[in-house]
Amino acid sequence: MINKYKVGNPIETQTVITKVKLNNDLPPIINQDGSLTISDITDDAVIYGLGETLHTINKKGFRYEAFCKDEPHHWEDKKALYGAHNFFIVKDKNKCFGYFIDCPSFVSYDMCFTHKNKIIINFAYPDYYLYEFINNSPLAIIKDFRSLIGKSYLPPKWALGYGQSRWSYKSEAEVLNVLNTHIEKEIPLDSIYLDIDYMVMFKNFTVNQNNFPSLKGLVSKLKENNVHLVPIIDAGVKDEVGYWVAEEGKTNNYFCKDQNGKDFIVGVWPGYSLLPDYLNSDASKWFGKQYQKLLDLGIDGFWNDMNEPSLFYSQKRINEISKYLEQHQDKPDLNTVLELQEKINQLPNNMEDYKSFYHNYNGQVIAHDKVHNLYGYFMTKSASEYLNKDNSNILLFSRASLIGAHRYGGVWQGDNYSCWSHLKLTLQQTISLNMVGFLFTGADIGGFAGDCNEELMTRWLQLALFQPLFRNHSAIYTKRQEIYSFDNWEYLRELLYIRYALLDFIYDELKYARDTDGLYFRPLSFDYPTDLNTLQIEDQAMIGRSLMIAPILEANKTRREVYLPETMKMLRINSLANITEEVLPKGYHNVEVKLHEFVIFIKKGHELSFFNKATNSSSAGKTIIKKYKF
Ligand code: GLC
Repeated sequence: MINKYKVGNPIETQTVITKVKLNNDLPPIINQDGSLTISDITDDAVIYGLGETLHTINKKGFRYEAFCKDEPHHWEDKKALYGAHNFFIVKDKNKCFGYFIDCPSFVSYDMCFTHKNKIIINFAYPDYYLYEFINNSPLAIIKDFRSLIGKSYLPPKWALGYGQSRWSYKSEAEVLNVLNTHIEKEIPLDSIYLDIDYMVMFKNFTVNQNNFPSLKGLVSKLKENNVHLVPIIDAGVKDEVGYWVAEEGKTNNYFCKDQNGKDFIVGVWPGYSLLPDYLNSDASKWFGKQYQKLLDLGIDGFWNDMNEPSLFYSQKRINEISKYLEQHQDKPDLNTVLELQEKINQLPNNMEDYKSFYHNYNGQVIAHDKVHNLYGYFMTKSASEYLNKDNSNILLFSRASLIGAHRYGGVWQGDNYSCWSHLKLTLQQTISLNMVGFLFTGADIGGFAGDCNEELMTRWLQLALFQPLFRNHSAIYTKRQEIYSFDNWEYLRELLYIRYALLDFIYDELKYARDTDGLYFRPLSFDYPTDLNTLQIEDQAMIGRSLMIAPILEANKTRREVYLPETMKMLRINSLANITEEVLPKGYHNVEVKLHEFVIFIKKGHELSFFNKATNSSSAGKTIIKKYKF
């Protein structure tokens, strides 16, 4: 059963694409100020959903915010990340219900944090549609929800192959070196990513000719080896006289405006920048067309970044700091310095800045903070509508998102850190993102910020080889993270061979999840709803229809507890040539998993095929070399 309610004057998000009859009453859980309270949540209840957030698969006991944020510190005290995904499910004893809040502005969730038996939801602007779902199981509710929001984006098959990225490969020579080293060492590869340094001064759709004299030539050189070049596009546009994107956008009023109707200026990578108004349909079409310049070079994949939008600073706040410094020039005391520090902390992504620029959305001028969460979504939509106009299947994924964007592209999980807790987080985030429709997702393998060592990379790959987006990306100033940078790169390469041997399985299962509005990555409790032990399993996942994974997620560990909700066949995999099988009964097991092996489990009545060894998606999936049945 689905009930739809209207509260205040909601702004259209285009997330729900199926008509649902409006219930004219107010929702029973509403308070006078438009906030929502769900009471009587029992101690045993489990809360699922919320997409790209921190913490556990069970969202209970924490607070969250749905307000797309460029948040490079994914630590426990943070409430918001890059996506805003207002869908959750409560499984409480024999009751199961869910809510989707269709709202593009700030929403906060107190998931039994302040009061252990209450969910409290607050709004910056209590104008929204509320969809209530009641059904027998979380999976049934997810299907109901997904039937309203349309099918998930799936990339071309090559995009499930291995991608090598770094901030940044700065020249053609560097890119070719990455390509050639992979070829020489027979390390599988399907894509190389270009980060912001391929552009001229970080200007979208420009190419630095000194470092990339012929990007077209480079793209075709890579294509000869079945490797795709995937450039980044940032949300902001450099404010520069003579730069056609800035000029055309200004002439046509395609950029967000300040309160005086002037183009709003923010600081991002290119310095002072303009924000395209992706919510304005003409501006959106215009921006989408710009990708043609790169399509003409043979490019067929893009990643869209900084589209929360990330604001490093605004002129107003810089002026405030300068004034403060002027006023306190002489022997500043400790309080003055601390206050200055606070002002600097408040510089990026400042809420006052988000309130001070405007969109032209459906002919109406709307302050940004009221529609903040549409920004990244509509940037993805703008790109996707242009790129796929001829039904071409272009790889596209984004950092920021709202539910709705799942129809147009995937998401990566932003600037994680090379640390063990973030390895576990990616398993939990991938599951929660699947619940809200983002099937094509993955975290930067090895972690983005910080240095990754060989053990972490090994364990990360053992998990990530089931992750749909399979990209190794690392930040500037960090230790090199390409597979061949590690001493025992041969073993890491073996893990990539295993990914390619399972590529067909991953692709088929993703497609199945898309077609059936199901989940490719799931918590165990979805498959075994009567088994209460599964409710507490936070470090295992069901993959597709036939598999369960139980990766090692901690340093210096060669054993872990694995819970089997039924008898399963365990495969212990060291290499494609060295796979052993063992049937384990239902229950808890202490399983040894040495560094150069990992274990996966086949469900009863299922089988898993490993295909031929391949160094590219073009040669993968030709012949089955091993088949395991249970
Ligand atoms: C952002 C992105 C990261 C990228 C960097 C430079 O931090 O999240 O992936 O490498 O910008 O473009």
